[in-house]
Amino acid sequence: MDEAALIRGAVGRRQFIRGAWCVGLGALGVMGRPGARGLVAIGQAEAAQDVREIVLEARQVKWELAPGRSITALAYNGRVPGPEIRFKEGERVRVVLKNALGEPTTIHWHGVDVPNPMDGMPGITQKPVPPGGTFVYEFEARPAGTRWYHTHFQGQRQMDLGLVAPLIIEPAGSDPFPFDREYTLVLDDWATGAGPALPSTREGTAGGRGEMGGMMSGMRGRGMMGGGMMGRGMGGMMGGGSQAMPAYDTMSINGKAYPATEPLRVRKGERLRLRLINASADHTHLIRLAGHQLRVTHTDGNPLVEAVAVDAVPIAPSERYDVLVAADRPGAWWLYCAQPGHAAAGEKVLFTYERREGRKPEPVTEGVGGLRLWHYTLGQGRDVLPAASGSVRSFSQTLSGGMMGSDAWTINGKQYPSTDPIAVKRGERVRVRLGNMSMEAHPMHLHGQSFAVLAVNGQRLAQPLVKDSVDVEAHMGAVDIEFAAHNPGDWFFHCHKPMHMEGGMITLVRIAG
Ligand code: C2O
Ligand code: CU
Repeated sequence: MDEAALIRGAVGRRQFIRGAWCVGLGALGVMGRPGARGLVAIGQAEAAQDVREIVLEARQVKWELAPGRSITALAYNGRVPGPEIRFKEGERVRVVLKNALGEPTTIHWHGVDVPNPMDGMPGITQKPVPPGGTFVYEFEARPAGTRWYHTHFQGQRQMDLGLVAPLIIEPAGSDPFPFDREYTLVLDDWATGAGPALPSTREGTAGGRGEMGGMMSGMRGRGMMGGGMMGRGMGGMMGGGSQAMPAYDTMSINGKAYPATEPLRVRKGERLRLRLINASADHTHLIRLAGHQLRVTHTDGNPLVEAVAVDAVPIAPSERYDVLVAADRPGAWWLYCAQPGHAAAGEKVLFTYERREGRKPEPVTEGVGGLRLWHYTLGQGRDVLPAASGSVRSFSQTLSGGMMGSDAWTINGKQYPSTDPIAVKRGERVRVRLGNMSMEAHPMHLHGQSFAVLAVNGQRLAQPLVKDSVDVEAHMGAVDIEFAAHNPGDWFFHCHKPMHMEGGMITLVRIAG
């Protein structure tokens, strides 16, 4: 699709917004966005209406990842990723999902503390929305931060095909880390069949153990993984049982693979904020901006006490990092993933200073030799979680599976729905020790509330990080988390790699209200 067609598409989408104005971010005081393209920004509500309503239509589209690389994708409002939605913290919002797909779907609001019936879990919190059907999600937008939304029906297939998008909740008060310009970058992996498969990132990195050794040698024997295992009949709810791991061959930034990625522009002297969202099914990315340090300010949208300067940020599936960049090195640079093969598979974007547009950047360097990498133990989270009032409850979960090429993944030896729920009462302080006995990392995500990361691989954090997804490294990696059970209901707690989720690595956190 060419630029003009995209812009026409964006204009056409305005009709989807009712009871609200579609405005460019300029009007919201955020500078320098490349227009309102593909963006649903919610301006002021019309007279006296205090619920913002937007409409998202899920539909099959033809999507061009790069010239000559078009795929049949599933999209929200015609775009991959879907439109960025922005709300103000505390705002009442209503999102009307219209299902124009030939199959059921739902939306999950990842990292948002929605009431349980709004969580988008087919079979648990709602019936799947049938083809031609509509579902109305209503919730208060909180907490502030870089969140995202995605399908939770047949996650492996529908997420892989594009039903993912950013959701930014702007703080009600002032932002602890001011900036002049911002970009949201959604990272994704694609199996198009058009190139050689990239190695899976198997061992994880986020805890910083082993300095990426595992990540760099993460080739997995896909050939041995063939689809011979039997489905377990989670059917419509989870996605129809087992299948071979797709051969991911293309990496995208905001739905485009280089050379189709849209350049990021800055002006010398600006403070730039990047919101990195990893929507990939299987890959941990390692984001660098050549010539610049990245100052990590938020983990999964939640602020740190102070920014942590690093050279590169590993980001596991479903994680988000916000980073600040001081634009002080005029020229042209690559922003890219340093994982072997990823930049070549499309995961790079030109980063140019104003009036330096014509320059050619230095080629990208793969790998992490000599680089200072972000890992969990470097950060100090702010204490933004609700406080617990009740007693302390402790649980332990052993993550295993995947042995001998099996696609069964377990928690305490059981596959969902046979896993034992973490059953607690509202207000209790819940501690969970996650121990990984398998040979792959598991980015574990809790619905309905964020948690504090207390310790990683036995090392206590000086000040717990606040997250909603935490990567538990392969080979005996361990993470201790804690949360106040403040949001009643049955909540999914699962590995965010859809293959592992569908293989059974899910439990419920059941909070009696
Ligand atoms: Cu990103 Cu179960 O979710
Ligand atoms: Cu997993």
